[in-house]
Amino acid sequence: MNGFYFHNPTKVYFGEGVVSKLGKELEAYGKNILMTYGGGSIKKNGIYDKVTDILKGAGKNVFELPGVMPNPRTEKVYEGIKICKEQAIDFILAIGGGSVIDCSKLIAAGARTDRDFWESFLIKKEKASDAVPLGSILTLAGTGSEMDCLAVITKWDAQIKTSWGSPLVQPKFAFLDPTYTYSLPKNQMVNGAVDTLSHLFEQYFSRPDTNNVSDDLAEALMKNVIQNLPLAVKNPEDYNARSNLMWDSTLALNTLVGLGKEQDWITHKIEHSLSAFYDVAHGAGLAVVHPNYMLYTYKGGLSKYVQYAKNVWGISSEGKTEDETALAGIRATRDFFKSVGAPSTLQELGIPESSIDAISENVQRYKTSYSDLTVADVKEILRLCLQS
Ligand code: NZQ
Ligand code: ZN
Repeated sequence: MNGFYFHNPTKVYFGEGVVSKLGKELEAYGKNILMTYGGGSIKKNGIYDKVTDILKGAGKNVFELPGVMPNPRTEKVYEGIKICKEQAIDFILAIGGGSVIDCSKLIAAGARTDRDFWESFLIKKEKASDAVPLGSILTLAGTGSEMDCLAVITKWDAQIKTSWGSPLVQPKFAFLDPTYTYSLPKNQMVNGAVDTLSHLFEQYFSRPDTNNVSDDLAEALMKNVIQNLPLAVKNPEDYNARSNLMWDSTLALNTLVGLGKEQDWITHKIEHSLSAFYDVAHGAGLAVVHPNYMLYTYKGGLSKYVQYAKNVWGISSEGKTEDETALAGIRATRDFFKSVGAPSTLQELGIPESSIDAISENVQRYKTSYSDLTVADVKEILRLCLQS
């Protein structure tokens, strides 16, 4: 196992009704709270009313930034920064999925600098020097943003979707109530679970491949998602299945399973390019790309793919070559995605073949443990995504 540094300071409150602890948790922060949320789901499912009651009861002045869109865009960050500066915001409370939390992280850092957040953080990759503290109430399990320091943002007119991170924007706390995810449309729930699996793949399929506990943890989490997602598809109010999916998603990206590993993340880079051109849901893009990335690169990590097929999918290697076993594991992955209703082709995402060149040229590439893709390779992977 490679050496590593581990520090994850986010406090997690997990379980039904945990939001009752919010008022106490906020005692440590100032009076002016900016509540950020999306397009209205929290008003429909009652979370908005519950939280605003708690904030009022705690004597907070509440300001709001509604309308954070999926695949959040730079305009929304500027809007939030303006509110923070004008209203002397002391704390940002993000209520939603990855989009709301990511947007809030960039607002938090952008509000405490005179620099332009896009130019400074995303283009020049400069560090933040300060940030408004923030916390989250999660309503969609998948991205892991509630317990990591990363933020993904899109500059739509430039067709760039990119990420940035800072320990200063790591959420102070995350409230994880599995019942808050009951109201998710099925496709959003599936997208989140695919994202969880994709995060695990990005870390697991990388060196070192010697026996290590990070990979064992990743396999356990993969199996748990594979077991619980169909249960939640069948019964969206299966508390146990929702609980597992929620905690799986947090554990998949709170850096734990990547410790001591090189990690990959090229599939994420390809997906970000799809979203930058076609605004596709992150998990849906991953469902299409990840099995095909595996198919294209598995020979670079053949023994690991054999291990994956055997340990995660229970595929026997008896009478099979290593290639056949590895391919059976990849097929099982794609079949699983299809079985829960995830898309498997670019056509299903509304992405035409004619856009493959532009999307591929836009992908940020680098050498990983198992791959060293050229633009031509990315094009080939995306062409594989045309076949169901
Ligand atoms: O906007 P509202 O009305 O709230 O509806 C949202 C949105 O339309 C809806 N939703 C969320 N919770 C709901 C609900 N609807 C009903 N009931 C609920 N309980 O779901 C839709 C999608 O939400 P969004 O936040 O966009 O989804 P997700 O959590 O998948 O976030 C995706 C974003 O996170 C980035 C992605 O690239 C994308 O921009 N990522 C962030 C990462 C990170 N910070 O570490 C890592 C990931 O790999 C990912 O790149
Ligand atoms: Zn992801």
